[in-house]
Amino acid sequence: MSTRARKVLVTRAIFPEVVRSLEKRFEVEHNEEDRPWGSDELARRLQGCAGVMATVMDKFDEALLERCPELRAISNIAVGYNNVDVAAATRRGIRVTNTPGVLDDTTADLTWALLMAAARRIAEGDAYVREGGWKIAFGVQFFLGQDIHHATLGIIGMGRIGQAVARRARGFDMRVVYHNRKPLASVDEQRIGASWMEMEHLLAVSDFVVCMVPYSPATHHLIGAAQIAKMKPTAILVNSARGGVVDDAALVAALTAKRIAGAGLDVFEGEPGLHPGFLELRNVVMTPHIGSASRATRLMMCETAAANLAAVLDGSRPAHLVNPQAEQQHHTQGNP
Ligand code: GLV
Repeated sequence: MSTRARKVLVTRAIFPEVVRSLEKRFEVEHNEEDRPWGSDELARRLQGCAGVMATVMDKFDEALLERCPELRAISNIAVGYNNVDVAAATRRGIRVTNTPGVLDDTTADLTWALLMAAARRIAEGDAYVREGGWKIAFGVQFFLGQDIHHATLGIIGMGRIGQAVARRARGFDMRVVYHNRKPLASVDEQRIGASWMEMEHLLAVSDFVVCMVPYSPATHHLIGAAQIAKMKPTAILVNSARGGVVDDAALVAALTAKRIAGAGLDVFEGEPGLHPGFLELRNVVMTPHIGSASRATRLMMCETAAANLAAVLDGSRPAHLVNPQAEQQHHTQGNP
């Protein structure tokens, strides 16, 4: 192995203690300024790098990978990895890793915060008080919202985060239904207290519809005008999974027409850009992609991503490898 320090790139500002631990092993270039890099700058800075710690906003497509022949590892600081062309990385023997597990509860908490804020019109009420609109102390028909307790929660995508969302529903005495390509084992359904349904049925019976599926071509616009049309007029849609799973234009149209009661959104198509219609609406609560953003969880995500990166560059199997086939490819190419 070369005695030259291997170089790694960290594309955004992360916790200094994690940078320091990487620096014990690697030459590290760290984007302390935290200004997002476009693909040309990213490609330029990746020259000579064996690994990169990246976020979901850094796009690793075929064209970029083509320009980075020395790259061996892309370590996403995220559970999702739809920012990476995994097939193209695999063909080049580049290992892709992610940070599942450590963010489940934190993301489920934020999902619930959005659900509750949309149901009880929290952001709207807060703006009303701040803007001086509150002139009469109490009104019987004032700021009426939806009940959460004893309502039906429909979860689309019952992976780890979906299950964490479902567990939290127990305290609200809710009925929980879910849709997944593959139903859970009945012992798991009983443990979680949720039952499987066809998606159309779920959309029709749920008071709250929560999207928890990863983004892929198969889940692009999984919730569009046709699906929203099946929801109850009193229903609330929550998306804390990925922009693009919901058709934002269709959602804006439905919220404008009061086709459903409201929405809670942490992710958007083309974020940080927004469909302009959202800003005109009162019946939507929006947060800026902060599902996993507690200090403790983001630190654990960075530590997990750093450990994944170091494992790949040390030639061992990282804890969270997205594309095990890349190892095969790497050896076929005659690499040690
Ligand atoms: C964040 O969006 C993640 O995928 O972890």
